[in-house]
Amino acid sequence: MSVAAPEPNVRSTIAPETPILGLSGVSKSYGAVKALREVGFKVARGEVHAILGENGAGKSTALKVINGEIEPDEGEIRLAGRATSAADRAAGDITMVHQELAVFPNMSVAENIFVGRMPRRGGRIDFRRMHARAAELLQLFGLQIDTHEILGHLTPGQQQIVEILRAVESDASLLILDEPTSGLNNREAETLMALIARLRADGHTILYVSHRLHEVLEIADHITVLRDGQFVETLRNEGLCEDDLIRRMVGRDLGPVAPADTSAVAKAPVALAVEAMSLPGAFEDVHLTVRKGEIVGVFGLEGSGAEQFSQALFGIVPPVSGTLRLFDRPVRDVSPAGLMRAGMGYLNGNRKEAGLYMDRSIADNVSAPVLDRMTRFCMIDAGRIDALARADIRRFAIRVPGPEGRPRELSGGNQQKVMISACLADGPEVIVLNEPTRGVDVGAKAEVHEVVRKEAAGGKALLVFSSDLPELLRLVHRIVVMRSRRLVGEVAGEAMSEAAVMALAAGSR
Ligand SMILES: Nc1ncnc2c1ncn2[C@@H]1O[C@H](COP(=O)(O)OP(=O)(O)O)[C@@H](O)[C@H]1O
Ligand SMILES: [Mg+2]
Repeated sequence: MSVAAPEPNVRSTIAPETPILGLSGVSKSYGAVKALREVGFKVARGEVHAILGENGAGKSTALKVINGEIEPDEGEIRLAGRATSAADRAAGDITMVHQELAVFPNMSVAENIFVGRMPRRGGRIDFRRMHARAAELLQLFGLQIDTHEILGHLTPGQQQIVEILRAVESDASLLILDEPTSGLNNREAETLMALIARLRADGHTILYVSHRLHEVLEIADHITVLRDGQFVETLRNEGLCEDDLIRRMVGRDLGPVAPADTSAVAKAPVALAVEAMSLPGAFEDVHLTVRKGEIVGVFGLEGSGAEQFSQALFGIVPPVSGTLRLFDRPVRDVSPAGLMRAGMGYLNGNRKEAGLYMDRSIADNVSAPVLDRMTRFCMIDAGRIDALARADIRRFAIRVPGPEGRPRELSGGNQQKVMISACLADGPEVIVLNEPTRGVDVGAKAEVHEVVRKEAAGGKALLVFSSDLPELLRLVHRIVVMRSRRLVGEVAGEAMSEAAVMALAAGSR
């Protein structure tokens, strides 16, 4: 299927422009895994072309083939109409930002941006020019960072931005970004979208992988969907919605949009009650209840206080005043340990910040919260830990070889499932989920949602903090909205819509 060529039945005197990139019949296997199977698509010069697919669909492999890092087993890759070898492409005018951070943590911010291309003057590196240009680039993101700062001291999101700026500065005509926004906050991601729009206006072509579908719909000219290593379709980005994309990515419908009947839940006993909780400067006088079997969402734009409130609820940033009750019993010890003892579970979905022991086994990770009960005659009972891990791997369909696998080797979606199973290991009655699907693909997202719905159906009370509004609308019974450090309102049932929530969150009503 052709993207750039004109309709075949339209006669034109102008020669159709040759696509900057064309793949045909590209296959690549890793042992028994067929990462790419006869993939073919085209990318027009000067467009933003998104590649979508679930984890494992072959997106990164396709990008590395294009970048010349991987030699495909079969197939042809043309650049501007010319057949190329991997070596041609590696030496050519293509820059790629990989899914994994590739930075030099011990070097300065400016050196990271200009590595291999530092400006010179009279045979010496021109440090003044380098730092001035680096400062200009950082300014694009509104980042007030000293360009002499050692990169390892920055947050992962800031490091990712530095890596993106390095690619931008390379001025390649084809820029490849593999999930560049997974570690960025919403504001940083929006800035990146604006930067991409500018690069396109300057004539660059951008190939772009992201799980944030609204972002893709906002910025892409064409969208190519891969599934199980195969090409599914290249779509023109016109009149598409997120569900159109999801259906093509997973090849199935993802079930009900919102939880069904809520009337039974409304009569259930209150499991979690927050009364007059305040942390001056962060949030003020928050009241909130969650009933048994209920899924309540909390939404707030940046600076609304929602983030600090989510952390206060689990004693990570203790509130200064207010009461927290679980099943009518006030919790006196609001430290994480005290809250866990009182029957609460907490998931911090920011995997880069918290949650997983990346280099310990899955078994160690899922048993960590309940380790004190995994002993026998004062010895750690390895058999029980192994059994718990195996049960969780089955229950959450975690794709690992076995309980000895390490989170570092897993995809983001599967890491998330390990975190959720650790959070549920102790059987908490009240579960607070903070960004439970950040950075995971649609398939794993649907599976996480399935787990959340099952826990609710089993009588658990769930409070979900998410900056992904479509996710909340799909998952929860009602959404409470925070703005300017206060809880400003709530929408539920039929009234729950993106517009209604945004109106509260942005303050237009
Ligand atoms: N270096 C590798 N060795 C073995 N298998 C790999 C390697 N890289 C990718 N794969 C496998 O190839 C498939 C496609 O992976 P990838 O291209 O990374 O997918 P995506 O980027 O869409 O998540 C997956 O099943 C993955 O496990
Ligand atoms: Mg990938």
